Amino acid sequence: MGAIAWSEMMSVGVPILDADHKTLVGLINNLHRSLGDSEEYATLGSVLQALEEYAGCHFAREERVMEVCRYPSLAAHSRMHRRLSQQVCDLRGGYQRDQTAVRARDCLNFLNKWLIEHICSSDMDYRSWVVGHPDATMAAESVSLAGDSAGKTVLDWRSLRILVVDDNQNFAQVMRTILEGVGVRDIRVASNLDAAKAILCGADCDILVSDWHVAAESGLDLVRWLRLERGQTSMPVLILSGHERIASRDVALEAGASEFMEKPISARGLLICLSRLMRKGGKR
Ligand SMILES: [Fe+2]
Ligand SMILES: [Fe+2]
Repeated sequence: MGAIAWSEMMSVGVPILDADHKTLVGLINNLHRSLGDSEEYATLGSVLQALEEYAGCHFAREERVMEVCRYPSLAAHSRMHRRLSQQVCDLRGGYQRDQTAVRARDCLNFLNKWLIEHICSSDMDYRSWVVGHPDATMAAESVSLAGDSAGKTVLDWRSLRILVVDDNQNFAQVMRTILEGVGVRDIRVASNLDAAKAILCGADCDILVSDWHVAAESGLDLVRWLRLERGQTSMPVLILSGHERIASRDVALEAGASEFMEKPISARGLLICLSRLMRKGGKR
């Protein structure tokens, strides 16, 4: 079974909920693709963590919309959400205990349960209650994964230009799914330092997210090049590493990075970190 493609037939009629479903479908596709990855723990662990976080946020959002639209089967639908949440929690917990515990069949069962039984069937049941409801969108927007709360200036993710440098294409794809999920449209990906430098020389970029180990090259050399040779001192740089024994935050910051995170990453942690770095850098 290959990747699942989104189709309009899966639309529940509220754009923000459709966007969530697309992100969840994207993450499940990432999950399937990441099995057997050479850096499986970092990639698969990140996908499972992101799936759990996105599912939690999406379910809360959907339940808020159903509540506002007075959907009569909210309680039963919420119980289904709790079961799906438990399922992804079990999958991630099992994976943390034993990295061979997640297999292709688990993923396919998961796909089936989530996509066919839930999104394409159960979620469709509330469609007629929420389509065109004047408060549905506002209710959906009141729940956010990145934690932007009332009173704070919300980062405009749509205008952000991000360069992701990672030799692991599956991980880069996970990053793309997470970033697109909050609305980032300009995401460039480089798999080596030369390609990254060419992008940084030729295009405006607001933030750089680089793996520490880019195949045989070092992401820290890219940061030093950016800071010292290009003289670019204000661009926020986040360094990621799946080799925590030899990588450390202090060394990354010493090289010129703005922040450091270990893989597997948390989608929520990543978004909060990027949001904080951009606010520090002055972009709103
Ligand atoms: Fe849903
Ligand atoms: Fe649902």
